[in-house]
Amino acid sequence: MTSVSLERMSKSYGPVTALAALDVRIEDGEFLTLLGPSGCGKSTALACIAGLERPTAGRIVFGEQDVTRLEPHERNIAMVFQDYALYPHMTVRENMQFGLHQQRMSRAEIDRQVETAAEILGLGPLLDRQPAELSGGQRQRVAVGRAVVRSPAVFLMDEPLSNLDAGLRVRTRTEIRRLQRELGVTSIFVTHDQEEAMVLSDRVAIIRGGVLQQLGRPMEVYRNPANLFVASFIGSPAMNMIEGHARLTAEGVSVQVADVAIDLPRSVACTAWDGTRRVLLGLRPTDLGITAPDTAGLRGRVFLVEPVGHCAYVDIDLAGWVVKATTDPDHAPAIGEVAGLSIMPGRACLFDPESEARL
Ligand SMILES: Nc1ncnc2c1ncn2[C@@H]1O[C@H](COP(=O)(O)OP(=O)(O)O)[C@@H](O)[C@H]1O
Ligand SMILES: [Mg+2]
Repeated sequence: MTSVSLERMSKSYGPVTALAALDVRIEDGEFLTLLGPSGCGKSTALACIAGLERPTAGRIVFGEQDVTRLEPHERNIAMVFQDYALYPHMTVRENMQFGLHQQRMSRAEIDRQVETAAEILGLGPLLDRQPAELSGGQRQRVAVGRAVVRSPAVFLMDEPLSNLDAGLRVRTRTEIRRLQRELGVTSIFVTHDQEEAMVLSDRVAIIRGGVLQQLGRPMEVYRNPANLFVASFIGSPAMNMIEGHARLTAEGVSVQVADVAIDLPRSVACTAWDGTRRVLLGLRPTDLGITAPDTAGLRGRVFLVEPVGHCAYVDIDLAGWVVKATTDPDHAPAIGEVAGLSIMPGRACLFDPESEARL
């Protein structure tokens, strides 16, 4: 096991810049996720780390060793892709053992490794089956197991769960996380699914157009997004963005949205400015609640109520902006009703509408 440093790693395909000077250090034993929309360069980054692609500039360092110019087989990595390719005529056990004999591992050691991985991945009872006798999720778990029993220095996964249906995706990701913790293998996981990234990772690197936007622990990027892109990409339903004018006061920040004033603590402003400026006020639906419409507080007309089980989302008019709030599904307001809106003011984020930077 080892740390992995990407040092100003860039990759271009002719005129297309897939990655621009990516600087990320993954600690020994860490689970790091590269997260971003399709085409942002995630697979390119992983392929460079694996040695399947050569960076145009920059370095890749495993521990103390510069591996930038090493072939894939010289890097001691294991990789799992979206399309699990198992040997169809071998059993689960044979699939997982395959290649281990070349690693100068004893028979007993091989059996032990395979059985430990199978145990954690819930494959114990399936060891003697063939791939055709397994479900999609089970097959993908075999692919994961087969990769990790090799005891790689670095474990790379490129959207390994995207072909599975929703329930299986959730179960399989839990197993991947357990296995990774148990083995302590340095892991780099690629996904476009922000929830997957949040639940799996020690840290998440959010990438847009080949450029790193933010690197941090899941709750850090959720609560303290570096810019508008990160704020909008992380969290579901997405953060509400409301245009207004903000002024710093002795007590805090006063945001005026049409004829409504919203008072926030000074801590929500990361920068200082003079006078009044245009802002985008970011408020997560989970930080907005529905209340009785008293005269003093915020209020608005209800457009839509969406019960999802543990809560209901309510679209409500706030000073001309439709914002999504959260409420108890058993006490949700009716469509067309006027309801009050409560805010957790300390959770608000402010952004510059032009540069999209955090204010
Ligand atoms: N072999 C290639 N030749 C040319 N362009 C490529 C190649 N591979 C990837 N790209 C481009 O690089 C960018 C990043 O692609 P990719 O890393 O696959 O994104 P992601 O995995 O985040 O969806 C895209 O614009 C893609 O079209
Ligand atoms: Mg990809």
